Amino acid sequence: MANPEEGRAPAPLRAGSGATTTTAAPSKPQPAAPVATKKSSESEPDPGKVRRRIIWTCIWGFLSANLLMFMRFFFPRALFEPSTICDLGPPSDYLLGVSDRYKQRCRIYVVREPTRIFAIFAKCTHLGCTPDWKPSENKFKCPCHGSGYTPEGINFEGPAPRPMDRAHIELDSSGRMIANTSHLYSWYKSQGGKDEFEEPGAYISV
Ligand code: FES
Repeated sequence: MANPEEGRAPAPLRAGSGATTTTAAPSKPQPAAPVATKKSSESEPDPGKVRRRIIWTCIWGFLSANLLMFMRFFFPRALFEPSTICDLGPPSDYLLGVSDRYKQRCRIYVVREPTRIFAIFAKCTHLGCTPDWKPSENKFKCPCHGSGYTPEGINFEGPAPRPMDRAHIELDSSGRMIANTSHLYSWYKSQGGKDEFEEPGAYISV
């Protein structure tokens, strides 16, 4: 005898009917992929590794600084100062009066008088500033504390205690004037000191 259910299509599911089927079951949540977990752990810095790196950086920095200081001993500290010898040219280059042509290069004012030429070392005898030549006032004026000097370099105002020194000057074989600021002539005028400005070498006769 034939089964009446055979050849019939399955009945559709109705909500609340209590019937179950494998195709309608909700999908379960899947666990996170292990690869993603591994990547996030690799991106975090290892505190121990960072600490070791900092320590080694400090050690290498300290050793490098010491090595540089050690190497510094092989290179002496030489102080290069400008030459104290200055070629002022021939006397015929100068008119009567004060010339500041060599003030910057040699710290010298060249003074020509009717019978002589001398070189004033431009260093204030108060505290060592460089006095300026003021043609309109016919005097040297120190910018630091106001000392004033005559065209011959003799102090007459301000705190300067004595005249400016004069540099040794002589003619070379070609007739040029050579000044030497390491050999100076002084005059401690107010203290009754010897006037060295009259010594040979303190001027050139013309
Ligand atoms: S340094 Fe020249 S007046 Fe003081």
